[in-house]
Amino acid sequence: MGFVRGARHRPRPCCVREHRTVKMTGQFPPRLTFHMSDTSPAPGFAGMTFDDFLFRPQLGVNTSRQGISLASRLTAGIELELPIVSANMDSVTGARMAEAMALEGGLGVIHRGQSIKRQADKVAAVKRSYSAVIEHPHCLPVGTTLGDAQRFARRHKITGILIETAAGSGVLAGLLSSRDMPWSGEWRDRRVEEFMTPVERLHTHGPDISVETAEQVLFDRRIERLPLVDADNRIHGLITRKDVRFLRERPFASKDHKGHLLVAAAVGARGDFIERAQALRAAGADCLFVDIAHGHSIIMAEAVQALRKALGDVPIACGNVATAEGGRFMRDIGVDAIKVGVGPGRGCRTRLETAAGVPQLQAIREVWTAVGESVPIIADGGVRYDKDIFLALMCGASTVMLGSALSGTDEAPGRVIEDPATHTKKKIYRGMTSPEAVLESLYEVDDDDAIEDALDTPAEGQEIQVPYKGSVSGILHRIRGHLRSAVSYAGAKGLAEARDKVTPDPLRFLVPLSESSRRESYER
Ligand code: XMP
Repeated sequence: MGFVRGARHRPRPCCVREHRTVKMTGQFPPRLTFHMSDTSPAPGFAGMTFDDFLFRPQLGVNTSRQGISLASRLTAGIELELPIVSANMDSVTGARMAEAMALEGGLGVIHRGQSIKRQADKVAAVKRSYSAVIEHPHCLPVGTTLGDAQRFARRHKITGILIETAAGSGVLAGLLSSRDMPWSGEWRDRRVEEFMTPVERLHTHGPDISVETAEQVLFDRRIERLPLVDADNRIHGLITRKDVRFLRERPFASKDHKGHLLVAAAVGARGDFIERAQALRAAGADCLFVDIAHGHSIIMAEAVQALRKALGDVPIACGNVATAEGGRFMRDIGVDAIKVGVGPGRGCRTRLETAAGVPQLQAIREVWTAVGESVPIIADGGVRYDKDIFLALMCGASTVMLGSALSGTDEAPGRVIEDPATHTKKKIYRGMTSPEAVLESLYEVDDDDAIEDALDTPAEGQEIQVPYKGSVSGILHRIRGHLRSAVSYAGAKGLAEARDKVTPDPLRFLVPLSESSRRESYER
């Protein structure tokens, strides 16, 4: 198989007992010669997770925490200003969450428990939500009724529609904005051309225009939208004041080279996953997450090979694994990021039902020890406090995936429910293999293999109610602040510097906790 490396380079199995003779040099005669015997791939981390350590405060070097950079790599080619990724779960990441995540400098991974079309539509919606230039603006032809135009605007959540000379002509006839649409119902059957501003009276510009010039034109003419057309009035794009303002106000948002928000999407490793991956890529997904419960498996190797064949060098993040061997395996099959975590999540029952799993901080450390910085690690699951994110980053992760911590927000899919007894507001959070999530996805997914698989596999996830938390931007703002403070306590000017300093040997910086010091730290 393609992923098996030549014998000369074959990685040493990590379970082989390591006997090293360590000589202390630099002194004569050498004072100490000793034998070290350690079977653990991540010495000092066996059985450890987030609540087992505090971070030893270092000499502070910052005068202000505001400017501390948290930039970190999702993959070699994708950098995030906020190293947070929202989980590909149906109670966490749809289009709204993915948009909010990218606006705050993180990334959303749109879940796959839905039809290919629905998932691809969500990717496309995020890609077109904000950008310097809307390359394919929504258009309606001359002759459309005002009632239809109003419905169209509502459906696409837009306030201005380009009107073309005929359906599909691509030639600009005018612009209909919400200000041009009367409120009263009796106008509904009138035609858009009666109300639009015709092209002769519109301010337009040629297709090549910088963001700075566009900003100037929008300001000088006091207009909201600037259609980009060629000499024959063929539509090449649209620039809006809202988007230009967004670019100015959010330089930290996660954007591609064209200024569109970044978005990722999940695929499986069997059935229609290639067709799904192709549709998601066509819709603009910047990174694909091949997400299966047991990523250290032949199925994963074959899936990655097939995806590479079908899609070339699209960034692929794969998981989940939780061991040094799993990490090496992922590196050797050529993935762009390794998702680490078996069973730590709040919606997970894998450890309870199968005994499979590795304490999350140990898992992160094992994988880092195996692959170092050669492949970025995404720590996935088990985060309950913001300090857990920092510990994950210091012990080897480059980014951290959150599920329950982002659930219960406005942007997470699902309705707010009110508990009649307590009058508290709640939302549902559920594991993707919970009976509820599996059942719902079966109505959506048109893939016999997947359906059979799902029906055959007993649940390894559960549904819970979580408190309603308002907008996710408040949570991300808090995480950003706490991470900056943590970096400051680590005596570094930015996250990258903190990682360079701590990650090669985190135990120099970590304080192991006793039962009583754990109580002192966390019981409030
Ligand atoms: P948190 O702790 O952030 O974890 O809520 C989110 C992660 O949980 C994983 N996940 C599952 N694991 N059964 C599992 O064993 C499930 O049904 C399930 N659903 C989600 C997933 O890795 C997610 O990112």
